[in-house]
Amino acid sequence: MTDEPRDWLPAEFEEHGRELLATIREHFESIRDVPVTVPRSSADLMASLRTELPETGEDFARILGDTREQVMPYVVHWNHPSFYGYFANSASFPGILAETLSAALNVNAMLWKSGPAASALERVVLGWLAQLVGYPEEADGVLVNGASLATLYALAAARDAALGDDVRVLGTAGRDLPVLRVYTSDQAHSSVEKAAITLGLGQANVLKLRSDEQGRLRADTLDEAIRRDLADGVKPVAVVATVGTTSIGAADPVPALAEVCARHGVWLHVDAAYGGFWRVAPSLADSAEDLTAADSLVVNPHKCLYAPMEVTAFYCRRRGALARTFRLVPEYLTSPQDDEIVDFMDLSPQLGRSFRALKVWWIIRSFGRQGLADRLEHSVRLAEWLRGEVARHPDWRCPVTSIYPLVCLRFEPEGIRDLTESDRRKLHDMLNADIVGDLNASGDAFVSHTVLDDGYVIRVSIGNIHTSRADVERLWRRLTEIAERRYAQCADAASASPAGPRHETAS
Ligand SMILES: Cc1ncc(COP(=O)(O)O)c(C=O)c1O
Repeated sequence: MTDEPRDWLPAEFEEHGRELLATIREHFESIRDVPVTVPRSSADLMASLRTELPETGEDFARILGDTREQVMPYVVHWNHPSFYGYFANSASFPGILAETLSAALNVNAMLWKSGPAASALERVVLGWLAQLVGYPEEADGVLVNGASLATLYALAAARDAALGDDVRVLGTAGRDLPVLRVYTSDQAHSSVEKAAITLGLGQANVLKLRSDEQGRLRADTLDEAIRRDLADGVKPVAVVATVGTTSIGAADPVPALAEVCARHGVWLHVDAAYGGFWRVAPSLADSAEDLTAADSLVVNPHKCLYAPMEVTAFYCRRRGALARTFRLVPEYLTSPQDDEIVDFMDLSPQLGRSFRALKVWWIIRSFGRQGLADRLEHSVRLAEWLRGEVARHPDWRCPVTSIYPLVCLRFEPEGIRDLTESDRRKLHDMLNADIVGDLNASGDAFVSHTVLDDGYVIRVSIGNIHTSRADVERLWRRLTEIAERRYAQCADAASASPAGPRHETAS
C-alpha cells in the first residue's frame, strides 16, 4: 500500500457500516422507549456541539459515540411512531438503505450520459408515481428536493408561458408589462408566496382568495377574481390549487378550478404535496380529487410514501414548457439526444442532482402498490378511530374534518362559570396551547397546531409507517390526561367554583 492520502478501506467501511446498522437497529427496536424529543436550550445544544475544528482525523467509534450521545437524543424523531407533527412523514427501511447505496454510488443524475441507469429509473418511478396519483404518465416530470421548489419552478414556467419566450432573455424589469397575478386560497402553503417573491412577481400579487367553510377555494370565487383583474388590465399568470392543505387537510375542487382556468387560458398548478398519494388508500379512492386537469402538479413521496427526505415528484402536462424555461446547455454539458433520453437538468434549474429515484424504486418494489395501499389505509382508519373518540368526549371536538388522516381537535371544557364568550375562547386557546406544550415537552408524543376561526387547534397528523392503534390510543390518553390536569389548574387559579370538567374518560 502506498502512503498516499486515502479514504477508509472498503473493509473498514464495512466494519463501521455494521456498527452503524447495529445502532440504527437498536434505535428502531427501542424507539417506543425513547422520547420523541428531549427539550434542550439552543445555547446548551450549541455549547455541547461546538468544538474546535479537528486538526487530525478521529476514530469512527468516537464519532459514532458522540453522535449517539450528543446528536440523536436531541433531534426530533420524525421516525418515531408517536410523531404526529406537521405532516408526519417517515423513512421506511428500504428507503433508508437506498439512500446509503445512492450515496455510495454518488451518481450525478444531471444528464442521461452522466447517469444513464439513474435517469432511466427516474423515468420509471415518475411513471409509477403518476399512475398512483392519477396523472398522465406522458407528462414531463422530474424529481426535485421538495414541494416548495417545485411550486417555484411551476410558477416560473407559468410566467414564461403567460408572457412569451422573450421573458427568458429580457427579464421583466424595466419593461412595460402588466401587473402579473397568481391566484390561490387563503389556505395555500407559504411556498406560493415565497415563489412569487423569488420570481419578482411580488407577494402582493398573490391573491389569497377566501376559502369556503370547508377550507376550499370555490370556482366562482376564482372566476370572479380573474374577471375583475382582466377588466383592470392585470395579467393572470397562474392559479395554485391545493389538495391537502397544510392547516386542515382541505382539498380544492380541481376539475371545477381547471374549467375556470381553461376558460381564461390560465395555468393551473396543483400542490398535492400532502394529499396526492392518499387516493391510493381504497377508502379514499372515490373521494380524492381528480388531478388530471392540472397543468403542473407536485406530490411528495417524502410526505406520504415513506421516502426519506428529500424527494418530490414534479409534473407538467404542457409538454416542453419546463424545458422552455429551464433548458440552457453550455458546451461542457452537451449530450447526444434520442427519444428515450431525458436530461433532467433541462427540467429545473438544478444541475448536480442526487439519485433520488433509487429510494422511491426500492420502496415501491418492497411494498408494492397493495402494500402502500394497506399502509395508507391503516393511517386513515387510525384517524377515524381518533375522530370517533373525540366525538364521544363531551369536552373535545373536531372543529373541521378532512378526508386525510389529519385530525384537528380542540379541548373546550364548559366548566368555568361567568366567563364572557371572548374570555371563554381565550381560555380555550390557552388550554390547547398548554396541552401542545406539555405533551411535546413530555417526549411522549409530538403534535403541532394551527389557528382557525374557532381559535387554537391541535393538529394530529397520522401517517408514520410505525404508528399502531396502541400508539394512537396512548396519544389520546395523554391528551385527555394533560387537558384535565391543565384545566383543573386553571380552574383553581381562577378561584372560581367550576362546574368542573366532566370526567367521562374516553378509552
Ligand atoms: C400543502 C403543502 N405544500 C407544500 C409544502 C412544502 O413542502 P416541502 O417541505 O417539500 O417544500 C408543504 C409542507 O408541509 C405543504 O403542506
